[in-house]
Amino acid sequence: MKPIQVGILGIGTVGSGVFNVLQRNQEEIKRRAGRGIEVTMVSRRNIAEAQALVGDRAQVVADARAIVQNPAIDIVVELIGGTTLAKELVLEAIAAGKHVVTANKALLAVHGTEIFAAAHAKGVMVAFEAAVAGGIPIIKALREGLTANSIQWVAGIINGTTNFILSEMRDKGLDFSVVLKEAQRLGYAEADPTFDIEGVDAAHKLTLMSAIAFGIPVQFDKAYIEGITQLGAQDIRYAEQLGYRIKLLGITKRTANGVELRVHPSLVPAKRLIANVEGAMNAVMVQGDAVGTTLYYGKGAGSEPTASAVIADLVDIARLHTAEPAQRVPYLAFQHHSMSDLPVLPMGEVVTSYYLRLRVADQAGVLATVTGLLAAADISIDAVLQREADEVGGEGATQTDVIILTHDCIESRMNAALSQMQALPTVLAPITRIRKEELA
Ligand code: HSE
Repeated sequence: MKPIQVGILGIGTVGSGVFNVLQRNQEEIKRRAGRGIEVTMVSRRNIAEAQALVGDRAQVVADARAIVQNPAIDIVVELIGGTTLAKELVLEAIAAGKHVVTANKALLAVHGTEIFAAAHAKGVMVAFEAAVAGGIPIIKALREGLTANSIQWVAGIINGTTNFILSEMRDKGLDFSVVLKEAQRLGYAEADPTFDIEGVDAAHKLTLMSAIAFGIPVQFDKAYIEGITQLGAQDIRYAEQLGYRIKLLGITKRTANGVELRVHPSLVPAKRLIANVEGAMNAVMVQGDAVGTTLYYGKGAGSEPTASAVIADLVDIARLHTAEPAQRVPYLAFQHHSMSDLPVLPMGEVVTSYYLRLRVADQAGVLATVTGLLAAADISIDAVLQREADEVGGEGATQTDVIILTHDCIESRMNAALSQMQALPTVLAPITRIRKEELA
């Protein structure tokens, strides 16, 4: 059979990885796919830069539309990123009857409903393994490997930049801003790291996993997002003293009332495997009713790890593109007409436990007042740690830190209790609140 023809929009680090891996492993990939997979066209605004990456192995064009409009191209791989030009080109490729592979989490998290509807109407595939956790085949696992299960929750470290920063903060006892600068100098963090450090990149990926896990439409606008910019080295240290590590987690959970969809720093018991995922690595835990807890670990970014995911999608398409659309695996794991309308819960309705750090006046009755307010709100305390004032503020200090771990409670109730505690004259600084996940 004639090799399937692929065009790459936006050849760069990932695109050249696709080229190199396809070339290196072409025989095995062909034996798996049942036919060859050939990248015959690539685009990049700067043609000389593209030629430096692919040489004469493919036709290089400056205008990505030339690929989308070429009838010889069967599959378009979108690696441009962003949600404007990439969206136009993906919709044009679909309209032209081409299958699409994309690594663009933002595009699908925000415009997925429109893109999947267009692809469904046209009978083409849209595959996006590379959009979530780079080389880890988590989309395949959720969509196919765990298909027997009623999935209960998914929790992941799905942003390598922030995990690198948190690992460095813990190892070296440094504050966020110092480590961020170092991470940028070393190339671990981008010059504009906003999407990573504010949790937006993780929320894009979580939105896709949530849709697949629970059969709900992609709803990025309903995700609760909190990044790591406010984390202090002292909270990482106190968490450690209590047996926890702090990780930026993306968590999506099915409850009786709806689906939790949230990204925020979380205390995780240090004994959990996921708490020990360090540096730029990614890991995702999935809890299914039949399988129990599963864990997937690997590189969440990089040229060949991401290419590994892109090529897996190319192989799937090479195998399935002649099948009837109804015989293919649905984009979001559940059949198009069988999506659930389970709502995404507002953050106030999420149930979780908490780490609280209060800078208080070191005087009689302060702890009793604070814990009294928690008791009045029916919030149960799990552990309390009080540092000696000298240790916190130096000799003769009159302030100290009180750290409280709570049991589960609904977030709206915790918010009300926090307002009351914050109003106490003996609470001397804004209270730090970090959510805690046992992941048991
Ligand atoms: N910037 C992402 C990360 C990789 O740091 O994990 C691409 O989503």
